[in-house]
Amino acid sequence: MSGKPVVVVTRQLPDAGMKLLAEANDVETRVWPHDLPPSRADLLELLPGAQAAVTLVTDPIDGPLLDALPELKTVANCAVGYDNIDVSAASERGVLVCNTPGVLTETTADFAFALVVAAARRIVEAADYVREGQWKTWSPTLFLGQDLYNATIGIIGFGRIGQEVGKRAAGFSMRILAVDRGKRADVSYDVEYTDLDSLLKESDFVCLTVALNEDTRGLIGARELALMKPTAMLVNAARGPVVQTDALLDALRNGTIASAALDVTDPEPLPVDHPLISLPNCVVVPHIASASVATRSKMATMAVCNALAGIRGERPANLVNPDVWNAAH
Ligand code: DGY
Repeated sequence: MSGKPVVVVTRQLPDAGMKLLAEANDVETRVWPHDLPPSRADLLELLPGAQAAVTLVTDPIDGPLLDALPELKTVANCAVGYDNIDVSAASERGVLVCNTPGVLTETTADFAFALVVAAARRIVEAADYVREGQWKTWSPTLFLGQDLYNATIGIIGFGRIGQEVGKRAAGFSMRILAVDRGKRADVSYDVEYTDLDSLLKESDFVCLTVALNEDTRGLIGARELALMKPTAMLVNAARGPVVQTDALLDALRNGTIASAALDVTDPEPLPVDHPLISLPNCVVVPHIASASVATRSKMATMAVCNALAGIRGERPANLVNPDVWNAAH
């Protein structure tokens, strides 16, 4: 015990973040040393006495947990999404919540669009085929996929990441639809704003980049999948619970839609024997859309800066609940 204020980090971060913490001589850093996330019981052992925590999307932070940690005043999530944190509960208890907006936009959009291409051109299936030693000859009918050019992409969640997905789609000469929720983004390419049902009916590719909240939980279920074209593909780069997993499984098995590519799932991780994983028309990857070397370093740096600001009584740059700060200053 150094007597210095304590910041807890719930997993080893990329070096840039750990270096910042090592250089912060005015704080003591406590790091969860394991590869798998701390359980709730582990958090209740790790966090007492800490004034700030750098958390990850795998750490549920709720009111009862915060009640057990009265000294914790800043929770800096190392992610742009913060659905793992009960922000209202944090605000009621005067706890600052921070995230990492902006730095992962392009990286995440690159990956979401990579999933669109992978689904359209059956890249994962084809690579498995080669790896399994099945490649015997060139064939005029081998792994026929869908063209991207002139196809329609519907983007659900037209915020920063969705707009960047649109920019990539425009580069591929796609028609772009987005759900109009009142605020029309100022983008440099053509986009047609529409309602959810029309987007689902007209799109060849439906790409989810929406935040998870009470409005979007379970947004894509059996009714919505049935509206999609039987040739359409669903890409989820948002959060797993935006899609109803059982409904998606049925839709992929029954040919209601053609295929899916999922960076995120519900539950997460998806058990290895989950039927979605063995479907040939479904690609599942382990929540890596923001996982570039540069972007994860920027996210770690941003999250650590937010935590250090909070612990030093300064205003963190990326507050999700600025009202808490404003009420206290
Ligand atoms: C985010 O930032 O919300 C991602 O899903 C985790 O990298």
